[in-house]
Amino acid sequence: MSTPTLKQNPTHAGSTIVGIGAYRPSVIVTNEDVCQWIDSSDEWIQQRTGIITRHRAPREVSVVDMAVDAGAEAIKNAGIEPSQIGAVLVSTVSHPYATPSAAALIADKIGANPAPAYDISAACAGYCYGVAQADALVRSGVADYVLVIGAEKLSDVIDNHERTISFLLGDGAGAVVIGPSDEPGISPAVWGSDGSKWDTIGMTSSLLDVRDFSEQAMKSDGVELAAASEAHAALWPTLRQDGQTVFRWAVWEMAKMAKKALEVAGITADDLGAFVPHQANMRIIDELAKQLKLPEHVIIGRDIADAGNTSAASIPLATHRLLAENPELSGKLSLQIGFGAGLVFGAQVVRLP
Ligand SMILES: CC(C)(COP(=O)(O)OP(=O)(O)OC[C@H]1O[C@@H](n2cnc3c(N)ncnc32)[C@H](O)[C@@H]1OP(=O)(O)O)[C@@H](O)C(=O)NCCC(=O)NCCS
Repeated sequence: MSTPTLKQNPTHAGSTIVGIGAYRPSVIVTNEDVCQWIDSSDEWIQQRTGIITRHRAPREVSVVDMAVDAGAEAIKNAGIEPSQIGAVLVSTVSHPYATPSAAALIADKIGANPAPAYDISAACAGYCYGVAQADALVRSGVADYVLVIGAEKLSDVIDNHERTISFLLGDGAGAVVIGPSDEPGISPAVWGSDGSKWDTIGMTSSLLDVRDFSEQAMKSDGVELAAASEAHAALWPTLRQDGQTVFRWAVWEMAKMAKKALEVAGITADDLGAFVPHQANMRIIDELAKQLKLPEHVIIGRDIADAGNTSAASIPLATHRLLAENPELSGKLSLQIGFGAGLVFGAQVVRLP
């Protein structure tokens, strides 16, 4: 008896972004506010990073709440019903549960239940990873419409008094809906990782440290309650980085990846309408733009001045702002590149909705 051929989904020639949404939290933290916590100045922060403010969500607003708002706007903007969403991908490093995922809850709240839903842990490259996966899912016919969200409540995982990264970070969410198209609207991703630099950005402690501490505290009699709870609180994981190493890697290695993304898309910088790199530092953005030799007409995402570094949310937030301020960019090509903790990176050219 011959083995039957398995049926496959009908495929699509291309995929493209059909809708975009954003959520910016209400609390604005100025450089003066930051300088109450660390030895710094408004002038230093502006000169060395380009950041003027960052937004932070109040305690009662969760990363899921922000993601739902951004996702709902993207679905509305795409002109489709939530029930048409065939997969929900959420890039985040600040959802405070290892399991269950933020994505499953977001899919339900947004009206996309029972779509497959999962989180992506690729830090500041997470959004570009999500776009790469959504493009593959749509083209292979696995889903007609995929919701990709980058959402972060980084204020939950920072220590305001540390000076290497906390002053850079903000909260927010950005989302896109990716759907089928006759022409490719998303180029192949140039993406990868370099785990040899795993230690350059990351958390100060892990769940294993908390477990070891609890076991230790239970064994030792007479541990003072106040001292024990203080030590326990200090185990709350917060972010740290070796800023200079990340800076050099971002400027040299990411410029090469951004050029490669143009190459695999089969275009040159002249064909771009916009350049939206991860919003990590204005000096990195300027240096990348210089190395790419971007012509005058290319509009550069500089959301960092207002929003700070929002990790996975930074590229969709910056893109959302660019489109609101420059509606003529609609339909034009944008080069986007995300990079960060892992270390990981992802870049591709997308047609703007
Ligand atoms: C973090 C960052 C802004 C620091 O800027 P930098 O120019 O590299 O600063 P350096 O670490 O070389 O320190 C230079 C001086 O500034 C001081 N400094 C460092 N951080 C400071 C701060 N927050 N406020 C004021 N001064 C600071 C240092 O003490 C040092 O002083 P010294 O010359 O008297 O010793 C920068 O390295 C950066 O943006 N790195 C990459 C960030 C990034 O992309 N991270 C996440 C990836 S998603």
